[in-house]
Amino acid sequence: MKEGIAGKVIYRKDYTTYPWDIKQLDLHFDIGIETTTVRAQMEFSLKQGPGTRQSIVLNGSDLQLLSISLNGQELTEEDYIVEAEKLTIPDAPSSSILKTEVKIHPSQNSALEGVYLSGEFLLTQCEAEGFRKITWFPDRPDVMTTYTVTLEADQSAFPVLLSNGNELDRGELAGGRHWVKWDDPFPKPSYLFALVAGDLALVEDHFTTRSGREVSLRIYVEEENLDRCEHAMESLINAMRWDEERFDLEYDLNVYHIVATNDFNMGAMENKSLNIFNSKYVLARPDTATDVDFQGIEGVIGHEYFHNWTGNRVTCQDWFQLTLKEGLTVFRDEEFSADMQSRAVKRIRDIRDLRSRQYPEDDGPMSHPIRPDHYSAINNFYTATVYQKGATIIRMYHTLLGEDGFQKGMKLYFERHDGQAVTCDDFLKAMADANDVNLDRFGRWYSQSGTPQVKVTDHYDAATLTYTLNLCQHTAPTHDQQEKQALVLPFAFGLLADDGQELPLQLENEAAGKPGARLLIMEEEQQQFTFINISEKPVPSLFRDFSAPVKVIYDYSQQQLAILIAHDTDAFVRWDAAQRMAETAILEQRKNHSENTPMSLDPSLVKAFRGVLSDRQADPALLSEALILPDEDYLAEQMDVVDVDGIHAARCFVKKALANELMELFKQRYAEYNDGQPYQKSAQSMARRSMKNVCLSYLQETEVGESLASAQLSSSDNMTDTLAAIRNLIFMGSPVAETALADFESSWMDDVLVMDKWFIMQAIKPGRETVDRVRKLMDHPAFSIQNPNKVRALIGVFAMLNTTGFHADDGSGYEFHADRVIELDGLNPQIAARMASAFNRWKRYDENRKALMQNQLQRIASVEGLSADVAEIVGNALQ
Ligand code: BES
Ligand code: ZN
Repeated sequence: MKEGIAGKVIYRKDYTTYPWDIKQLDLHFDIGIETTTVRAQMEFSLKQGPGTRQSIVLNGSDLQLLSISLNGQELTEEDYIVEAEKLTIPDAPSSSILKTEVKIHPSQNSALEGVYLSGEFLLTQCEAEGFRKITWFPDRPDVMTTYTVTLEADQSAFPVLLSNGNELDRGELAGGRHWVKWDDPFPKPSYLFALVAGDLALVEDHFTTRSGREVSLRIYVEEENLDRCEHAMESLINAMRWDEERFDLEYDLNVYHIVATNDFNMGAMENKSLNIFNSKYVLARPDTATDVDFQGIEGVIGHEYFHNWTGNRVTCQDWFQLTLKEGLTVFRDEEFSADMQSRAVKRIRDIRDLRSRQYPEDDGPMSHPIRPDHYSAINNFYTATVYQKGATIIRMYHTLLGEDGFQKGMKLYFERHDGQAVTCDDFLKAMADANDVNLDRFGRWYSQSGTPQVKVTDHYDAATLTYTLNLCQHTAPTHDQQEKQALVLPFAFGLLADDGQELPLQLENEAAGKPGARLLIMEEEQQQFTFINISEKPVPSLFRDFSAPVKVIYDYSQQQLAILIAHDTDAFVRWDAAQRMAETAILEQRKNHSENTPMSLDPSLVKAFRGVLSDRQADPALLSEALILPDEDYLAEQMDVVDVDGIHAARCFVKKALANELMELFKQRYAEYNDGQPYQKSAQSMARRSMKNVCLSYLQETEVGESLASAQLSSSDNMTDTLAAIRNLIFMGSPVAETALADFESSWMDDVLVMDKWFIMQAIKPGRETVDRVRKLMDHPAFSIQNPNKVRALIGVFAMLNTTGFHADDGSGYEFHADRVIELDGLNPQIAARMASAFNRWKRYDENRKALMQNQLQRIASVEGLSADVAEIVGNALQ
């Protein structure tokens, strides 16, 4: 990697072990909003053994050091060196007790890392490197120790004082103060430390583990949110049960805390027994949260709970191994959600997400393997690649080894590594050893970036009844890596006859044909499979269930796609065929648009959609997925030079034409699901609502749209239907939209989470006028640039989801956005860097837009004192 503006680069190959063991860490916090004092005592013992001496190196950032002593000796400034956020004590004895005392300032912390203030309570966020903002310590995941934590504070302002582990003791002090002492018996890395101090309300339930342990489950929220915790609690109990049943993993302490905060950089954090959550992933009531929110809560609660084993009991050796815990835990939360609801729908949503977020990332300036080789700001590597592609790679182990083989591998992984900080290679080895297979070649998935393309060609010989499938894989060079190798690809597939029946499959060397799907393994660049006794020219159903994260190139005819849509047994293939058909139709019209030829609607798409709308058997949630047209970003990825306006126009045209062509059917299905039944939380009701609202979004393109949406809005008893109705009114430019927005605002003005939705609806409205609206909304009393949820709702949504607004060809969207990145960088570099990545794909646009975006990137890059986070993103983009 070239030296850019990004500054210091850390390399995976430079890993060395920490020379010391730390036997115990005792922390004492004297809590205050303006100033908190932290006393730390730790026992160092040299790994190499007694007798020798070695320097002790600690990390610290923004700490005001009050005192430091080693083995009872107060140290003076000559005894240690502080530079570049490191403190070094040279030549410490092999067994040493270090004591420090520092001051920190929570209320001035706008980066939301370390100890910070949210509303009226204090809390922490330490992953990845936030612990160094709390006290001097080797802040790296391979240094694990047990913690005791004493929290001392004013009793009336901070009645609740929480940290990891079990409560050991508590007491009162003079002057209205009190203290609570916590003890976490499990050794942990510093990134899993947490504390919470404030006046919070409690919702409590309990869970009995399979072996009979009584666990108290406690969700802490601000008082006014007490009636919004039920779903989170239910999700937690489901997650605990599921992990026992499916993974044979039990919870290991007697208490599990979840605290909800409105001020959080991420979704949630798995601190040992003290999870901290963005309130978006805890609080829900049918009138405040959508079905997607409810499902999100289930998934994130599950995810953080599952980390207790995959992340906490076994953690990462270094941050390059992040996918070891995140990819694996995302796989686990995906499976949990799939087991709780409709597996097929969950799978399709996850695949859609991977393709529309991770594929572009892997093709852009931030391309990296799921286990990166270098970084300058680790926070930039909590990416769709590490998470979602990482989960897909775990899923491939599962596909290759089967459920039993995979579980054997997990069991061995825990037997070998419980209590350790390990690597992705250790995980692979456990999987391989437990199943007695060689996975060395599979391991290339950890080190190679980019999305492989698989070109499929086939030939049917009617005379000999043989069918040959030819697969050729190729990964194009990426920004970070030129040379690519062949990867192991599980290839699940089937063959369909013209009438949609599945043909029996018989490979050349097999005695008899077997009906149903087949799993073959592709390991070479090119491979051929020959099948015999194939009675007719088949339609291939490829990479069923998305068995490998590749782009499949096969020249399907519309006729073949229609057969797959109507008959395939694999839900992913059916959905994917519908997406392909719609994609072809839209991109075709995009061409017409650019050539000023009239646009027209492909009759095979109408026919396929009519089939979907008439399907009375399938789960309505699945049908609704099939009816959602590929989004503009996904379509943009299919073009060499993105035609922003053409894609928008063509997609609108196709949607409107379909709506008018199939209006009667859309109306029928809408009426059928808009049955006036009161709201229910069940998966079945959610499925009906999703189909109903997809129908409504088509009908919005017709003359009945406005009256249907208005009627839905006035009769709605839940947030899903309310939002769908208002969104439709906004998109169709209805005058009713403004009244609806104003009513919504006055009903929910004091509700921070619901107001996020109000901002999103306005930021997402297509067109170049939106930038002015967004700018004005920044002055709205419910907006705050300091709050990540607000920034994501208004600024993030505008830049990432509003293609015609952000990419307005006068550059107004770009300029506005670059101003926000610069403004945010001074407050919260992590969020600023996320926002800056909206420019990552700039090289794929027309000359005019390219120049405009490049200008803005350069403007950001030239800001003095730019954070390492933003510098890395912008530096890579400009390279
Ligand atoms: N460990 C992460 C949270 C995290 C990441 C905190 C980086 C600070 C820095 C947590 O387990 C996580 O992955 N959360 C996800 C949600 C999850 C469902 C994928 C998140 O916050 O987006
Ligand atoms: Zn995670």
